Amino acid sequence: MSDFIKVARRGEIAPGTGRTVDVAGTPVALFNVDGQYFAIHNSCPHEDGPLGDGSLCGAVVTCPIHAYEFDVTSGECLTEPVYRVERFEVRLDGDDILVRETAEA
Ligand code: FES
Repeated sequence: MSDFIKVARRGEIAPGTGRTVDVAGTPVALFNVDGQYFAIHNSCPHEDGPLGDGSLCGAVVTCPIHAYEFDVTSGECLTEPVYRVERFEVRLDGDDILVRETAEA
């Protein structure tokens, strides 16, 4: 069973935005979708673009490199369904945002 690691506090990530956080050495893109937090691997499975730097619209982030779109709640690529990005479980502990250190299967 892997651990959850504190990566940010609520209020540091405004609704409709995201940022890249470090989860035990793994770069993870963390997004606030209308007050719910979702985490996916920061590396775009296309050519490693930084998804945490992408723009978020609803639950969809657009990769800043070639504009492929990903659903941050499922990890699915909406542009090329052959691609999928790993998801990480997110928990809240008071105002702390915690992310599980290993990706979901
Ligand atoms: S690197 Fe993300 S779409 Fe190409």
